[in-house]
Amino acid sequence: MNTNNIHPIFDRLLQREDREKRLEQKSKVLWLTGLSGSGKSTIAEALERKLYNEGFFAQVLDGDNIRSGINNNLGFSIEDRKENIRRIAEISKLYLNSGVIVINSFISPTIEIRNFAKSIIGETDFIEIYINTPLEICEQRDVKGLYKKARAGEIKGFTGIDSPYEAPLNPALEVKTIQMSVEECVDFIYKYIYNHINF
Ligand code: ADX
Repeated sequence: MNTNNIHPIFDRLLQREDREKRLEQKSKVLWLTGLSGSGKSTIAEALERKLYNEGFFAQVLDGDNIRSGINNNLGFSIEDRKENIRRIAEISKLYLNSGVIVINSFISPTIEIRNFAKSIIGETDFIEIYINTPLEICEQRDVKGLYKKARAGEIKGFTGIDSPYEAPLNPALEVKTIQMSVEECVDFIYKYIYNHINF
């Protein structure tokens, strides 16, 4: 690709620090990874509400929404998942630059894919949070009925069934959802991130 004709104007714009100061917070990307049905989105939404109530300015990005909009041309091959995550990481970077705390809720199934996201976002702004719910529990809950379809062979390449999920080896935080209520999960995450986002 020839990028000679592209002149990013970021240098002339207001800086992230200016906006962080206005919002009285430090922007970060909270990257929630876990199986489908692990509770990522439920926790992300409740965390967004908690941050809002505490005076922070945050935005959830989640698989089902992003995939019905900007990423509606992508499927679930490993290549497409990588492209899904690449675009999300780029979007997150724009939010970061506007001083917003981003809460991402994506399976992001492999270590390589998450490292890719981290490399785009930058190590110091990327906070990996593993939403650890055992496959059996996700499958038992089967909120969207997708595990049943995957077991019946109606969906191919479903994460945890016939497509890999690699748990993070060294996440910033691990949330074991079977031992905690949603509220407890949110409080646990909030306590951890507070020092990272407090201005
Ligand atoms: S990711 O792997 O590319 O990070 P993402 O989080 O965006 O996935 O989307 C996951 C959601 O898509 C799931 O929660 C589920 O509702 C839906 N989905 C549809 N097909 C699949 C599949 N083959 N594997 C996993 N999730 C799927």
